[in-house]
Amino acid sequence: MNRIRNLRSADIPHLLELSRLAGWNQTAADWERALTLSPHHCFGVETDGRIVSSAAAFLYGQDLAWIGMVLTHPAYRGQGRARSLLDHTIKALRQAGIGWMKLDATEQGRPLYESLGFAAECPVERWKRPAGKGPKPAAPPLVHPYVVDPSFDRAYFGAYRVPLLNALVRAGEAAFVVGYGYAMTRPGSLATYFGPSVVRTREAARRLLEWFLANHGEEEIFWDLFPDNTDAVQLAIDYGFEPARHLVRMAAPCRPGATPLAHHNSSIFAIAGFEYG
Ligand SMILES: CC(C)(COP(=O)(O)OP(=O)(O)OC[C@H]1O[C@@H](n2cnc3c(N)ncnc32)[C@H](O)[C@@H]1OP(=O)(O)O)[C@@H](O)C(=O)NCCC(=O)NCCS
Repeated sequence: MNRIRNLRSADIPHLLELSRLAGWNQTAADWERALTLSPHHCFGVETDGRIVSSAAAFLYGQDLAWIGMVLTHPAYRGQGRARSLLDHTIKALRQAGIGWMKLDATEQGRPLYESLGFAAECPVERWKRPAGKGPKPAAPPLVHPYVVDPSFDRAYFGAYRVPLLNALVRAGEAAFVVGYGYAMTRPGSLATYFGPSVVRTREAARRLLEWFLANHGEEEIFWDLFPDNTDAVQLAIDYGFEPARHLVRMAAPCRPGATPLAHHNSSIFAIAGFEYG
C-alpha cells in the first residue's frame, strides 16, 4: 500500500539509503537539517512500511519555496510516486501562499517538472576536485568569521534564506571578506562541499576559495556553480576543478500573479546545493 505522509527523524536511515543509491552527497545531518528547517513540507511515499520516495520544500519567506531531495528508490521507480509526491507538495505550497517554486533538475527529473509547469531558468553544474589534486594556497589568506547578513544575501539570491544560512554556518565553517562577501563549507558523504558563496568580485572570491583550500585541499571537493558565471568557472579551472554533472535550474509560479524574483548569478560563486538553491 502507498501512503503519502510527512517525513520524520525515524525515516532518516531509509532517506539516507535513497540518497546513497542515487550517488548523492547527503549525510544523516543533511536529512536531519531538512526536517528541522521544513517540518511541514518534507514528504515521503511509504510503501510496505518504509519510505521509498521523498520530496522536500524549503520555504524562503513567502516569496519562494525550493524543492529538493526528490528521490525514488530504484526498485520502485516508474510507478507514479514522484509525480504524486510533487502534486502533494505543490498543493501544500499553494495553501501556504508561496509566490514561486524553484529547483535544480537532473536529466531524470526534468520531464516530470516540465509537465508540472516548470520552465528552465539557467544551467547549473557540479564541479569536482579529486583529493589532493590541484594548486594549494601558499598561506591561509586573511578572512573573518561570517555572521549572516540577511539583506546582502537576499540582494543576490532573490529571497530570504537566513534560517538555511544560519543552519549551514552551524553545520560547517563560514568566512567573510569584509565588504565583499562570504563562503561556507560543510561535510558530505562523498566529498566536502564548497558553498554557498556570494561575493562581489573575483579576487575576493579567490581569497575565500583559498581559505577553503587551505583547510580542505587534501579532500575530495564538490562545488556547484553557474557555468554562465565566467569568473567562477575561471577560478574553478585555476584551482584544478573539473565539471562532473550538468543540471538545469527551473522555476514555476505557485501563486497566480506572483512577481518574478530578481537574482544576480554573476555574484553567486557557489550555490548552497542543488537541494537548497
Ligand atoms: C526522477 C525520479 C525521482 C522519478 O521518480 P519516479 O517515482 O520513478 O517518477 P514517476 O513514476 O512519478 O514518474 C514521473 C515522470 O518522470 C518521468 N519518468 C519516470 N521514469 C522515467 C524513465 N525511466 N524514463 C523517462 N522518463 C521517466 C516521466 O515523465 C514520468 O511522467 P508520467 O507520469 O507522465 O509517466 C527517480 O527517477 C529518481 O529518484 N532518480 C534519481 C534521482 C533524481 O534524479 N531525482 C530528481 C532530482 S531533480
